[in-house]
Amino acid sequence: MVNAVADSPILQVFDLHRDFGGVHALKGVDLEVARGSITGLIGPNGSGKTTLFQVISGMDPDATGEVRFDGESILGRKPYQIYHRGLARTFQLSRVFPDLTVLENLVVAAHRKDKGARSRALELLTRVKLQDYTEVKGSDLSYGQQKLIEFLRVLMSEPSMILLDEPAAGVNPTLRQTLWDMVRHLNGLGTTFVIIEHNMEVIADLCREVYVLAEGEIIAQGDFAKVREDERVLEAYFGKRKL
Ligand SMILES: Nc1ncnc2c1ncn2[C@@H]1O[C@H](COP(=O)(O)OP(=O)(O)OP(=O)(O)O)[C@@H](O)[C@H]1O
Ligand SMILES: [Mg+2]
Repeated sequence: MVNAVADSPILQVFDLHRDFGGVHALKGVDLEVARGSITGLIGPNGSGKTTLFQVISGMDPDATGEVRFDGESILGRKPYQIYHRGLARTFQLSRVFPDLTVLENLVVAAHRKDKGARSRALELLTRVKLQDYTEVKGSDLSYGQQKLIEFLRVLMSEPSMILLDEPAAGVNPTLRQTLWDMVRHLNGLGTTFVIIEHNMEVIADLCREVYVLAEGEIIAQGDFAKVREDERVLEAYFGKRKL
C-alpha cells in the first residue's frame, strides 16, 4: 500500500496574515513543504521571511490564517508545544547561552529525560570538528561558532523539520561549508528543512523548491531556475522588468 503520510506535505500554510500596526508584514501567504525536502525561502530585506518563521514556530501569536504541521493545526499553539512535536528553528541572531559551556549548551537543548543527550552532543561536535570546544563558554566562541552551536542545539531534540533563518550569515567559509554539509547529511536521513538564505548559489544548490516573498506576498515558487527568471522576482530584487 502507498504510504499516505509519507506522501503528504509536512507543512502547509494557508492565507497567513500578520499586521504590525500599519505594516502588513504577511498578506495572505500560502506555502507547502514536501516531507523530506529542502525548501528555500528568499526575498528582499523586510519582505516578511522572519515573520513567517515567527508565526510557524508559535512565537508570534497574533497572525491569522492556518498552519498545519504533520496534518495538525498548530497556529495558536505555544512555541514549546510546536517544538515538542518536532518542528524546530534557529534565529537570525544567535541565541547561545553565554555562561554555559558548549557541551552544556547542547545538553540543555535536548528533551528532558534524554539519557543519550551527552553522547549525542559529543557526536555532533565531532562531526563539525568542534570536539575540542566542549568546555569553552558560549561567550568565548566566535560569532560563526555560535551560529553553528545554535544549529547543533536544534539538532539535539531530533526534530523532523527545521526552519533555518540565515544560518550562514557572518560565518566564515569553512564553518559555512560544514553547516551546509550537515544540512545535506541530515536531509539524507529524512529531516525536512526550510532555509532563509540570501546566497543564491546555496539556494540553487540545496533547494528543490523555492518560494519568493516580496512585501508580504509569495510572488513566485518553483525550482530556482524558474523563479530566477520570473518577472515579478526580478522586479522585486532589482526594481526593473526583465529585458
Ligand atoms: N515586531 C515587529 N514590530 C513591528 N514591525 C515588525 C516587527 N517584526 C517585523 N516587522 C516589520 O515587518 C516587515 C517584515 O520583517 P521581517 O523581519 O519578517 O523581514 P525579513 O524578510 O526577515 O527581512 P531580512 O531579510 O532583513 O531579515 C518589516 O517591515 C519589519 O519592519
Ligand atoms: Mg529576517
